Amino acid sequence: MASKLTPKLITWLILPSCLLMFFYSTLLPLYTTRSPQSPTKIPLLPPEPCNLFRGQWVLDPSRKPMYDSTCPFHRNAWNCIKNQRENMGRINSWKWVPENCDLDRVDPAGFLNLMRNKNIGFVGDSLNENFLVSFLCTLRVADEGAKKWKRKGAWRGAYFPKFNVTVAYHRAVLLAKYEWQTKWPELSGQDGVKGIYRVDIDVPADDWANIADFYSVLVFNTGHWWGYDKFPKETPLVFFKGGQPIHPPLEMLDGEFQQELYMVAHIDKVFPKNVHKFWRLQSPRHFHGGEWNQNGSCLFDEPLKEYQLDMWFDPNKNRVNREARKLNHVIEEALKGTSIRTLDVTHMSEFRADAHPAIWLGKKDAVAVWGQDCMHWCLPGVPDTWVDILTQLISYNLEMG
Ligand SMILES: *[C@@H]1O[C@H](CO)[C@@H](O)[C@H](O)[C@H]1NC(C)=O
Ligand SMILES: *[C@@H]1O[C@H](CO)[C@@H](O)[C@H](O)[C@H]1NC(C)=O
Repeated sequence: MASKLTPKLITWLILPSCLLMFFYSTLLPLYTTRSPQSPTKIPLLPPEPCNLFRGQWVLDPSRKPMYDSTCPFHRNAWNCIKNQRENMGRINSWKWVPENCDLDRVDPAGFLNLMRNKNIGFVGDSLNENFLVSFLCTLRVADEGAKKWKRKGAWRGAYFPKFNVTVAYHRAVLLAKYEWQTKWPELSGQDGVKGIYRVDIDVPADDWANIADFYSVLVFNTGHWWGYDKFPKETPLVFFKGGQPIHPPLEMLDGEFQQELYMVAHIDKVFPKNVHKFWRLQSPRHFHGGEWNQNGSCLFDEPLKEYQLDMWFDPNKNRVNREARKLNHVIEEALKGTSIRTLDVTHMSEFRADAHPAIWLGKKDAVAVWGQDCMHWCLPGVPDTWVDILTQLISYNLEMG
């Protein structure tokens, strides 16, 4: 009798626990994590479901940025307070409110304490640099002795001596290795072609080739360079694999998908299991009335309304800024089944047409030469909310081991 009952008993005992653990591991990261000061409040069952990436911006006039124009890690073109961008007070009065919970602001000291003796790396294009600057200026609130740091191939970063924490950015705009090449036999005879950008889809760029044992947390992104305006007909992208050009040549989006698959597999393989890996999804652009080089503009006073978002960003509507959602599909496809988690800032940022540097670039003639900047974000600004979310996800992951 007992021998018959035991397997059943085990099933009844173990199955619910497994299910519970499964729900915890899959759903909990999306809930607001409790502050470490109140461990007794950790409930036995998951609280109400909460998705930090869905919600709305609510005006909160008491809200103030955590840093100002004097943060030494600013990049001039994004230092909107210094550049006297209009509306900065209002831009930073909007608070992101997820659908079913509150998003707490990061506690810089608490977070750095949790990260003690650990390092955080960003790898990707200038939108990840934009993110990094927000992160550094926020964390510096807890350690004003923060020093510039630039080693191991990093483009820029900071060391926080009170906590022995380094946070840095490795510039690798396509993640894969790419280089300008003037000699390319297949080009002879083609009108106007000056050379090619060779992309080795299976080789990571040197800038982040040797960081595997340094960072405990990594945040990747790519995508903003995958545009036809960056790689026009005269200087096309040519995709290589195993050192040989791929035949037939890949279209840009196919090439991007292929390289993403390789980079994702590489990241999965090279970084140890205990390294927390995130992939930040696309940051939307807000060029209105034309591309960046066609007088595209983003002089908005208010965030967009929810009903306007599809009009702006639905790829089928064929508008100027349609690429973000399209690229997200490609990236999400590539990330399926991997240990890399997505940091989906796209939806929340789609609203914020009002929060780019626009014409306030801090340099005479910059607008005449480059057009408005409706791609990067003013700092302080929207990426500060990305920081609130990222730090919450990191804290949760570290506490769970
Ligand atoms: C600082 O952190 C590094 C890891 O990033 C560690 O190797 C080193 O021992 C730490 N230094 C101190 C003084 O704890
Ligand atoms: C941009 O605006 C300037 C000044 O109004 C105008 O001369 C130029 O033709 C415009 N360019 C485009 C591409 O629309």
